[in-house]
Amino acid sequence: MAELSWVKRVFVERADLYIEIMNGSWSEGEQVAKSIAKILRDNGLDSGHLLDAFCGNGRVAIPLALEGYGVTGFDISLPFIEDAKVKAQKYRVSDRTKFIVSDARMIDQALSGKKFDAIIIVSTSLGYYDGATDEEILRRLRSLASDGAILIIANTLHRETPDWKYCNRVYQRYGSLVLMEERKFDLLWSRLLSKWIILRDDGEGNLTKELEVNTEMRVYTPTELAEILKRAGWGVDSIYGDIRRMEKFIPPCTHLSLVAKAIQT
Ligand SMILES: C[S@@+](CC[C@H](N)C(=O)[O-])C[C@H]1O[C@@H](n2cnc3c(N)ncnc32)[C@H](O)[C@@H]1O
Repeated sequence: MAELSWVKRVFVERADLYIEIMNGSWSEGEQVAKSIAKILRDNGLDSGHLLDAFCGNGRVAIPLALEGYGVTGFDISLPFIEDAKVKAQKYRVSDRTKFIVSDARMIDQALSGKKFDAIIIVSTSLGYYDGATDEEILRRLRSLASDGAILIIANTLHRETPDWKYCNRVYQRYGSLVLMEERKFDLLWSRLLSKWIILRDDGEGNLTKELEVNTEMRVYTPTELAEILKRAGWGVDSIYGDIRRMEKFIPPCTHLSLVAKAIQT
């Protein structure tokens, strides 16, 4: 199955850099996990088995295991999965977590026969391919969900995200790394085209370029995403902005979060 060149470059070949970025935002993952656990408990799920799709290095899966859930995480990147396993040991949740390398586009085969009480997708992890592929991924995830299971899409970029309308340059710092993004937006096809430049700051005012890569992803309006979810067997129940604050989705807000339930078949 074809792997997008930028996905391979950022998440596999330079996984070392992206792991630093995820480590630099570990506490954000913990906050996201707290809100996810609250939503799950409010829906009567105090325990059970969760699937963290596109789990990265376990930034959210591990805090959820610490909340008492069993968590299976999968990601296409072997270095991320290896790092997640090391972290699961460090946080003493190896007995409650399982991390596997798998492509979301075939995840039903990798986890054939398994059923999960809830599935989570955190950060902008859909949209790397096209709308039809995203729908197919969500359908495959639905086949792994038990009846009444909850799907939480947390803190994804969305079509109303204001940054690229008012400011096409975004800078973020993660420890000694600086991620610089130059964004353009294709209004017709709702694709965000970004040049990512990752720089290392040596602390003495010198910046060295570690990576430069052009990324491209589809971003959705809440309605578009809800429609795709419905076709894939998920009914959207509620919508938030940044899930960490359980804020209302009122643009301009940077994030979109959706909570859906598996539609009975
Ligand atoms: C923005 S990161 C989010 C990681 C994690 N959810 C978090 O919040 O820390 C997107 C993730 O999707 C993974 N990914 C990209 N394409 C994938 C695919 N086809 N199958 C599985 N994982 C994929 C990447 O390796 C990366 O870890």
